[in-house]
Parts: sequence; structure tokens; C-alpha cells
Amino acid sequence: MGMKHPFQIQSLAQYQAACTAAAENPEAFWAGVAENFRWKRKWDKVLDWNFDEPRIEWFKGAQLNITENCLDRHLDARGDQPALIFEPNDPSDPARVLSYRELHVKVMQFAQVLKNNGVQKGDRVCLYMGMIPELAIAVLACARIGAVHSVVFGGFSAQSIADRINDAQAKLVVTCDGAYRGAKVIPLKSVVDDAVTMCPSVEKVIVSTHTRTPVSMIKGRDLWWEDEIKRVESMGNPYVEAESMDAEDMLFILYTSGSTGKPKGVVHTCAGYMIWTTYTFVNAFQYQPGQVHFCTADIGWITGHSYLIYGPLSAGATTLMFEGVPTWPDAGRFWDIVDRHHVNILYTAPTAIRSLMGFGEEPLRGKKLDSLKVLGTVGEPINEEAWNWYNTHIGKGKCPIVDTWWQTETGGILITNLAGVTPAKATFATLPMPGVEPLLVDEQGTEIHGNGVSGNLCIRKPWPGMLRTTYGDHERCRQTYFSTYPGLYFTGDGCLRDEDGHYRITGRVDDVLNVSGHRIGTAEVENALNMHAGVVESAVVGFPHDIKGQGIYAYVVYQGFHEDENLTRQDILATVSRVIGPIAKPDQIQFVSGLPKTRSGKIMRRILRKIAEGDTSNLGDTTTLLDPSVVDEIAAGRAT
Ligand code: WT7
Repeated sequence: MGMKHPFQIQSLAQYQAACTAAAENPEAFWAGVAENFRWKRKWDKVLDWNFDEPRIEWFKGAQLNITENCLDRHLDARGDQPALIFEPNDPSDPARVLSYRELHVKVMQFAQVLKNNGVQKGDRVCLYMGMIPELAIAVLACARIGAVHSVVFGGFSAQSIADRINDAQAKLVVTCDGAYRGAKVIPLKSVVDDAVTMCPSVEKVIVSTHTRTPVSMIKGRDLWWEDEIKRVESMGNPYVEAESMDAEDMLFILYTSGSTGKPKGVVHTCAGYMIWTTYTFVNAFQYQPGQVHFCTADIGWITGHSYLIYGPLSAGATTLMFEGVPTWPDAGRFWDIVDRHHVNILYTAPTAIRSLMGFGEEPLRGKKLDSLKVLGTVGEPINEEAWNWYNTHIGKGKCPIVDTWWQTETGGILITNLAGVTPAKATFATLPMPGVEPLLVDEQGTEIHGNGVSGNLCIRKPWPGMLRTTYGDHERCRQTYFSTYPGLYFTGDGCLRDEDGHYRITGRVDDVLNVSGHRIGTAEVENALNMHAGVVESAVVGFPHDIKGQGIYAYVVYQGFHEDENLTRQDILATVSRVIGPIAKPDQIQFVSGLPKTRSGKIMRRILRKIAEGDTSNLGDTTTLLDPSVVDEIAAGRAT
């Protein structure tokens, strides 16, 4: 079914050659890769950058539209090939398949709907939807007309949506009546209704019907997706030209948590992001033409953007989108999907692997899994046991596993082995993509040279897919990523480089938690806890969790108990759910009479982390604390 990609690395020697070429002359290297895309106008300059500002410009002067690369350019060669396979929540409902030609038509139809509703190039559109094809269509329709999409994960609360809409000043929201998640129906439109009352910028809400959960439809504001499509059909389905975008025009905003209370809008731009997601997709997974790629991530996270939509479609792959959850109706669901749709590449998160591993081998009985060629993992460090299980029971020892390290901010994979091409090592992301120069630094910012060392992971030079700014607050972008270690991009991750020079990411070194692969800021959770009427003060830390990777542990100073402590706990959890969303609910709440603070009032998180981890033996020096006795009380009262 066609040839390998022209920029596909096929041997260790080719990998090394690509690294050398990209390091010696990045402009020539990336220009060579860029030749394989469709441009409306070629670039004047490949790269211009300065990390101090920061200013990162790739392919300046070029014009393009990412949807021409994801759709139009495939129509001749593979117009009838499935572009998107949709596996619904309920396995007894039929799957939906959209060929490249069909997806192209649907994207243009919805692009016209957006235009009919006043959306113009540069306008922000918020997408709060379940995992249905209409979400992918809406994403691409925005890109088609140059509107900036901001997808908000369906597990966020009305307040969180409102904060994101207001920050981006979105003028239109696309949602669904409801979404299925296993046995549950999530009433998305009703959550949007609560959000939009706080959002004066929103003019229209378009509602796609899916669950037929009853919804309120407000005259003049709310419109049905299906009615709007009919309107476009009655216009004769006009051809919607792909808007000419400058290489550095914004493609999308995706909000992510940091160490402060307020999520930041990570901004990705058109050309660099397209090239990075395509290049990394083809190389990390060693995608072969015609293969079916199943990325289990939700489009509400960056993995869904880069490896469910843009990377695979730009490469001409068949991408599989699954609405449901891995454990419903039973823990064999992923394996059913793999067999049913002959999945070749499976890309999932360690939390899912650990959870499925917990069900033993019964759910694997009768599953062939013989279509699988490559397995991938992302989102958090994978433990050896989970890696081995994935390798043995899913890959049958025959599928290379790629452990892909990256971040919302990096746009795509930065460190990974290339499936079957560069060596894999359990629990190691291994080696950087060509053009990526990782380095380790100590707390003072001094580079740690040599092998067999650990430090904070930084990146020395720009790569095409990196973030350009944080929306509406460039200074925050500079502060967060480029000021800790001047001249370097700081990832926020700790990292080990072993004797062979292979990288192993050990986890965040800032106040960001990684719960089931979801990024949550401790400050955000504390803000939410503190909004509860009885909470005087709180401190949140992570603790090791068998399935989620990290769990959320909250120490809470509470005033005015008038009932069972457990009821109070439930109220506090309901508050966090209301403020952020159910994903941020602490796993443990320990009521304490005070928090361990230094004389200057700083909370000693190190001590709280140790206690949450269950290690109360060696709490280190507590003599600098304002009230050392509080530590004994907290250690004795540890929640289990
Ligand atoms: C953080 C980024 C990248 C898409 C999903 C998460 C952690 C990510 C790995 C990996 C160890 C990993 C890091 C990173 N992380 N991939 N393969 N091994 N840790 O995106 O929400 O932006 O989170 O996830 O700590 O900083 P994100």
C-alpha cells in the first residue's frame, strides 16, 4: 500500500546519521523533512530563536494549512482508505468508519457551520465533547478555517471550563448532549450551560446529539449540530478552502496545570507542530502504510491531539478512536478492539496497563492480538512489572515497546526508542529524537556531564514542535520554562542517564502531580480545598499509588466539625469536584491541627511527602520548624 515515509529512519546507523545531521545543521535537516509536506508558500527562513525572550520561529514566511496535509493531500492515493475508525462505548453498537474522502467532506461541512456562525480566522473555539468522531471533525474544522481550538477534557467542571473559555475569550463552544463512559452517561451540555453563564464572550453553543440526554436549548444561543449541517447541505455543501495560515500562526491552545493555581494555555503553532507530530509518529512507532493506529488517549489531552488526530492523519494512517473505558463491559475491551479492528499499533498509558494487569489473564482468553506490531506507552514512568506484562501478554514478546517521553509543551515525543530500530530498555525512554539535545543540570544549573548520573532534565535547543507561548501571558511562559536555567528549556522532570547514555525519566521535580497520566497542580487542588467553607488551610502532596502512579494526599486543617468526619470528607471531595472536576479528588484526606511550617511560614512539603509515602521513620531535620510537635501528630494520624 505505498512506500515508507521518505523521512523514516530504518536502522540504528540511520538514526545516528539523522542525529548528527540535525545537530550539525538543523536548518538543512528540518527543511529536508519539511519538503515532504504540502505548502501554500515555502519558508524564507527555517529557524530563528532566542530562549531568553523566548522567541521560537520555525519556517517563517511559509504558508500552509494543516488540514490540507491531514486530508486533501491523501485523497488521490488513499481517498477510500479508512482515516478514522470509531469504536463506540457499547460494543454492541456498530463501529463507524470514515474514509479520508468522507472525513474531508465532514470537516468542510462543519467548517462551513463555524463560518455560518460568525467564526473567523484567529477566533477561539472551545470544544467540550465526548470521544466521538464529531470531536475530531470539530478540531479539524477549526484548523481548516484558522480558528484556534481549545479542547477541554470532558472530566473538567463547569468552573474549569469557564476559566478556560474566559482566558481564551472563546466566542463559540461545541459540545454534546452527553457522553458515555462505561455504564455512565455524563451530561456535557448541562455542564456547559453552567459554565457559559460565567462567560460573556460566548455567542453560540453548538450541540451534537449522541446520548439524547435531555438538554436545555436557549433561543439565539444554542444550535443543534445536525440542523446546522442540514443548512450547509441546503447550501449545496460548498467547498471550504483551507485558510492560508502563516507557519507561526496559532493552531491551538491546550490548558495544562503548573505549579501555580491557574492552568496555563500552552500555545502550538501550525508548521512546526505539524512537522513534529508527523515526524515523531512515523519514526517512534515505525508506522507502515495502511496500518491501524489505536491511541487510547482522550483528545482532551495532548496525546489525543498529536497521536490520535494530527500525527496519524498527516502520515495517512488509519486512526482508531475509542469512546469508552478499558474495563467496561469487562477488562478485555481493549483486546476486543485490537482483534476486531486489526490494530497494528497500540499506544496507551502505564496506568491503563497496571489496571488491566490487575485483572489477570482471564480477560485475555480467546484474544488473538496477532495484528499487533508495535506497543507504546506514555504519560508517566512505567514500572518494570507493568512493562514486562505488556511485553509478554500483549506483545507476546514480539512487539517492540516504545516508551515515549514528552509533555503538553513539547507538542510531540522528544525521547523514545524507535520501534525495532533503536534498542529498548524496560523503564527507559532511552534516546532523544534527532534534533533534540537533552542535558541534565543540578539545582544550581550546572550541567552534569558523563553517564550514570541524575539531575533535572533540560533541552538545549528548539525543536519544531515546542510551545511558543502561554496564551495571553508570555512572561509566564518565560518564567516557567526558560528562567530557572537561563538559555535552556526546563522540563520540570527529574531524570537519570545510565552508563549507556540512555535516559530514564523519574518524575516531576516541581509541585505538579501525575495522577493516572493526568497532570494536576498541587496548588490548584489546595485552592479548591480551601474553597470549602470549613477548610482553614490545606497542603497537597503526591504519594505512590499502585494503579494511578501517583495518588493525591491532602492534609486539611478543618474548623467546626459537627458530624461524622467521613461526611465532612465527602463534602470536601464534592467541593473539589465542583471546582476542578472529579479527576482532582484527593485519594486521602487527613485532618490535622496544623501544618509543619518553617519560621518564615513556608510549608515543609518534604516532610508531608514522606508521611504520605508511609515513611515516618526518617523525617530529617525538623528543628527549623515553628512547631516541631505537629510533625509527630501528623505522622501518628496518617490516613490509610
Ligand atoms: C509529564 C507531562 C506527554 C503526553 C502525556 C502527558 C510525564 C510523560 C512519560 C514517560 C515518564 C512521562 C512527565 C512529563 N511523562 N511521558 N514516557 N515516562 N514520564 O502530558 O500532561 O503534559 O505531562 O508526564 O513527568 O513532564 P502532560
